[in-house]
Amino acid sequence: KIAVFVSGNGTNLQALIDAVSRGEIKAGISLVVSNNKDAFALTRARNAGIESFVLSHKGFEIRSDYDREIMKELEKRDIGLVVLAGFMRLLSPEFIKKYQNRILNIHPSVLPSFKGTHAIKDAFESGAKETGVTVHFVDEELDHGPIVLQETVRIEKNDTLEKLEEKIHAVEHKLYPMAVRLFVEGKL
Ligand code: GAR
Repeated sequence: KIAVFVSGNGTNLQALIDAVSRGEIKAGISLVVSNNKDAFALTRARNAGIESFVLSHKGFEIRSDYDREIMKELEKRDIGLVVLAGFMRLLSPEFIKKYQNRILNIHPSVLPSFKGTHAIKDAFESGAKETGVTVHFVDEELDHGPIVLQETVRIEKNDTLEKLEEKIHAVEHKLYPMAVRLFVEGKL
């Protein structure tokens, strides 16, 4: 049973929903977790008939208190894999320990380059000739942990930031379902 954590648009969630419904991932997405009630990802979950749990982090001063509320929901549903798909929050050490080697993240760069929340823009503005996508297991550091899959994307001279974003997202939507499938099949 999979829980997907989101904060925004949810195009990676959609790619996972589609891969599950095509039978490529032999597991179900039982829950979508969001810290942002306005995330479009929640509409995608609703349209797919997936339950969601929304909890704003704003009332919580201590990160682990917030995470504990989420952990309760995961436990209730016996979640075996946590998939971060544009979830723009760090998880507490307590959460990471509990789900060690069972949390995946996708990041729009070839890690360890361009960590953080503006990875595509940072790569575009750096003058680098390529960037890409990384899927990795999550540890206590930001955008860090054992790498599962990585693919590079060339930054062409006539690329705009929008064009580069489009190319990166297309790779993400291919790579993330592939990584989740490998996990579910016990191949990671
Ligand atoms: C994705 O590009 C993902 O790689 C990035 O947020 C976007 C979410 O898009 N994540 C990070 O930057 C994590 N540091 P989505 O909501 O359309 O899936």
